[in-house]
Amino acid sequence: MASFNLFLLPGDGIGTEIMVEVEKVVAWFQARGIARFETERGLVGGSAYDVHGKAISDADMALAQASDAVIFGAVGGPKWDAVPYDARPEAGLLRLRKDLGLFANLRPAICYPALADASSLKREIVEGLDILIVRELTGGVYFGEPKEIVTLENGEKRAVDTQVYSTHEIERIARVAFELARTRRNKVSSAEKRNVMKTGVLWNQVVTRVGREEFADVELEHVLADNCAMQLVRRPKQYDVICTDNLFGDVLSDIAAMLTGSLGMLPSASLGETDPVTGKRKAMYEPVHGSAPDIAGKGLANPIAMIGSFAMALRYSLDLGDAADLLETAIAAVLDSGLRTADIAKVGENTVSTKEMGDAVIAALDRLAV
Ligand code: NAD
Ligand code: IPM
Ligand code: MN
Repeated sequence: MASFNLFLLPGDGIGTEIMVEVEKVVAWFQARGIARFETERGLVGGSAYDVHGKAISDADMALAQASDAVIFGAVGGPKWDAVPYDARPEAGLLRLRKDLGLFANLRPAICYPALADASSLKREIVEGLDILIVRELTGGVYFGEPKEIVTLENGEKRAVDTQVYSTHEIERIARVAFELARTRRNKVSSAEKRNVMKTGVLWNQVVTRVGREEFADVELEHVLADNCAMQLVRRPKQYDVICTDNLFGDVLSDIAAMLTGSLGMLPSASLGETDPVTGKRKAMYEPVHGSAPDIAGKGLANPIAMIGSFAMALRYSLDLGDAADLLETAIAAVLDSGLRTADIAKVGENTVSTKEMGDAVIAALDRLAV
């Protein structure tokens, strides 16, 4: 039986609550003999700051580097609002992405049939939705230098963030988007703002060239990112794969989340380059949502984004596509049965806790695997 090394980083707030549920799922696949998992836990975010004075320790970074996959919960919260900028909880997440070279963030937004009425949009707009946002994750304004606040001679302050992209960064994310489009409906929509930003001009040129030279069989369209945001709520099913930069991808994926019913539904995979020798790549699996301080500690969090992220780990890191399909079918079955955490429930509808939702996924796996 194949053996995999998973590094679990629950983080803060609801991160710790949803990690408990994914651990049950990991144990289920192990008990069924589908794979052996060696799991280790580390600290990230505010919980790491409280112990180490930084958002992730070097020792935990080394464990992340050595793992087959990192399973990440969420970080942040008001408790750490006043900590130094470089030690803020989110810095731990950004260091993991940057140091592991996780340049490709896959954020699938699927509207499960049972949730077509849970979206804030009308059923006919979201029913059957299946789009994939491919977000560049290690470049752009998140990491560009200078990034600073300076005090001018007149005492005024000036804050600078820098949006930078070079050709190779755009080429490699474009290839990921085109390759994935070939496995889906064969269409890439590249979103940037070439009308305002030099990075948008280069993004547009490079994606166009990669498409023409390497993926002539895939349909490519260009859309300005603000229009893309509008189209996502107007007619989202026009999209298949959306390929976009770090910041636009962050915002567009939160919009896409609401098409599926809740931010608590959106999983993601953050992938590095494949090593040509070993065929392996670094990877981290993280729900799109954050630590949800408003509901943390109350058992209200929807664990489906986290469990769905583990399904993506099975598919993209562990080469267990059938197991991933099984887990996604179990999630769909639980939703079909009418079980709802509060975020996906209609007014007046009965709701279940984080734990009950996790237990229901396990029960569905038991039923499906007979
Ligand atoms: P958030 O995603 O934590 O929450 C936004 C809203 O969605 C809240 O009302 C929350 O209750 C709800 N929500 C999110 N996940 C949910 C789930 N699984 N089930 C039910 N409801 C859910 O965003 P925020 O409030 O803007 O940020 C809170 C903190 O989280 C900040 O410190 C932010 O930096 C951090 N954050 C971290 C990550 C991450 O770790 N990947 C992502 C986004 C935000
Ligand atoms: C996300 C989050 C992160 C981001 C933050 C917490 C750094 O919003 O994963 O979507 O902006 O990338
Ligand atoms: Mn975000």
